[in-house]
Amino acid sequence: MEKLIQIKNLNVYYPVSSNFAGQSNQYLHALKNVNLNINKGEILGLVGESGCGKSTLGKAVLRLIESKGEIFYGNENISNFDTKKMKHFRKKAQLIFQNPYSSLDPRMNVYSSLREPLVVHKIRDKEEINSRINEIIKLVGLNEEDLKRYPHEFSGGQRQRIAIARALILKPEFLVADEPVSALDVSIQAQIITLLKNLKEKLDLTVLFVSHDLGVVKYLSDRIAVMYLGEIIEISDADGLFKNPKHPYTQALISAVPSIHEKTQKEIKLNGDLPSPLNPPSGCKFNSRCPFVMEICKQKEPETADISDSHCVKCFLYH
Ligand SMILES: Nc1ncnc2c1ncn2[C@@H]1O[C@H](COP(=O)(O)OP(=O)(O)OP(=O)(O)O)[C@@H](O)[C@H]1O
Ligand code: SF4
Ligand SMILES: [Mg+2]
Repeated sequence: MEKLIQIKNLNVYYPVSSNFAGQSNQYLHALKNVNLNINKGEILGLVGESGCGKSTLGKAVLRLIESKGEIFYGNENISNFDTKKMKHFRKKAQLIFQNPYSSLDPRMNVYSSLREPLVVHKIRDKEEINSRINEIIKLVGLNEEDLKRYPHEFSGGQRQRIAIARALILKPEFLVADEPVSALDVSIQAQIITLLKNLKEKLDLTVLFVSHDLGVVKYLSDRIAVMYLGEIIEISDADGLFKNPKHPYTQALISAVPSIHEKTQKEIKLNGDLPSPLNPPSGCKFNSRCPFVMEICKQKEPETADISDSHCVKCFLYH
């Protein structure tokens, strides 16, 4: 399988101000040694509890925030791209947010919102601009009449369609969709999910799909990566993950949603709460909540081990 993106040893540290002068004298290690490939043409789901670092990873891959480590796009290392190369990369890789309001200017009608990225990237031919805009607006299920309207005149679902159109107007190859339906009514979510799935096929996109909704991720993803406290603890093809979750944390996540697991599985109760990301446990970061914790888990950090060609897990139970 051709890899579109290879993330190698990626780390993100956020400065946290903890004194009254606002100086940062502490760092939150939001991504720790993340290694992940995204294959061309796949939807890779990224799941985990709130605060585990999903959005951080999505932004770091697009180089919207500072990170340490390497990110390859095709065979180019984008970690050291200069401004000119970054601008070209920005055309190929786009982000869709949870809240479409944040990506749409309320003072711009839809036409202007869709034209803006084209102009920024020096596409000036009026015919080309109009044909691209007319094409994309239909692809997202709206029509030419809607181009004259403003964001506040649309429903939440329609606004997300506009935000998707804006993300796709430059004909990107890669899309990070960060909880694109979580802010929408449940009744609308399925429509937008179906739209994304169809657009992915039609436009030959590769997608990193961030969500805490396992049902949605199961429906959409070819493969799934599970995060806990800034680390990827399991990666598998989607079927394998739901039929045979290996990491105790993944097992607990899946067992908590009765409608999605394949076997009749008892709910696995986790001990305690999510530890503070500023002060995570040493050894395996999951050791404070794991029902299977062993002595070694508190002393050492497990390596990521391959279970099969398409499944790896970071846990001593599989060493
Ligand atoms: N700009 C920032 N400055 C400091 N800490 C941050 C910043 N952004 C995120 N964090 C912290 O980094 C950690 C990871 O945050 P992130 O937003 O990536 O998590 P997430 O998995 O996307 O969560 P959610 O499901 O709530 O969107 C959290 O502990 C969060 O509080
Ligand atoms: S390494 Fe130990 S504590 Fe961590 S998930 Fe595996 S069994 Fe649980
Ligand atoms: Mg997030």
